[in-house]
Amino acid sequence: MKTIILNGSPRKNWNTAMMLKAAQEGAASVGAETEYIDLFDLSYTGCRSCLLCKRKGAERCKCFWKDDLSPVIDRIFAADALIIGSPIYLGDITSQVHGLMERLHFCSLSYDDYASYFTGKVNVGLVFTMNAPKPFFDARYRADCEALAGTFGFLNGAVEICESCDTLQVSDYSKFSMAGFDEAHKKAQREQQFPKDLERAFQMGARLSAQK
Ligand SMILES: Cc1cc2nc3c(=O)[nH]c(=O)nc-3n(C[C@H](O)[C@H](O)[C@H](O)COP(=O)(O)O)c2cc1C
Repeated sequence: MKTIILNGSPRKNWNTAMMLKAAQEGAASVGAETEYIDLFDLSYTGCRSCLLCKRKGAERCKCFWKDDLSPVIDRIFAADALIIGSPIYLGDITSQVHGLMERLHFCSLSYDDYASYFTGKVNVGLVFTMNAPKPFFDARYRADCEALAGTFGFLNGAVEICESCDTLQVSDYSKFSMAGFDEAHKKAQREQQFPKDLERAFQMGARLSAQK
């Protein structure tokens, strides 16, 4: 089993990365080979509409644009599980994750009948971290996150989401103009709730990496 983990946060050691590293440990705990990539270290854009993937006779499920992302896309289609993490930015995934999704989805989409060219199976886990408290996530973000998860049906595997709400955004709120946040509450969340979120991420990584 091979599990690829993609960090769509620009921060390499903060909430999203910590959730993803827990998921990576979960994957490793069931014997999966893991590969962890910080998307912000790669140079790429979203789909350039070169349409080489739609050429008659072209290899399918292959992004032909030559940049850092295309080899990663090749490896995703050859993997057994894919775990992508994104902080919520302006109510959405980060632009790096969106760019990845455009490229991954479009090169496996048939314009003959809108079916997926992909005949293999990759299980998908989506990790979302956010400032929003859980009730706000449930009321305002959950449906969009689940809809996004649904778009990964083209990979023919299980799809799960794992959210971490009300995250600690900075280690010392007194140094920032962030009066809208209660530092004591954020720190309590980090100590009491975040370890539970990490455990859920670990379990998700293990589950998705154990299912053939
Ligand atoms: C540009 C930007 C936009 C953000 N927009 C939202 C938002 O719309 N909703 C939200 O709940 N949190 C928002 N946040 C907060 C982050 O989602 C949250 O701090 C997240 O846990 C950061 O992940 P990281 O620690 O991995 O960087 C935003 C943060 C930034 C930097």
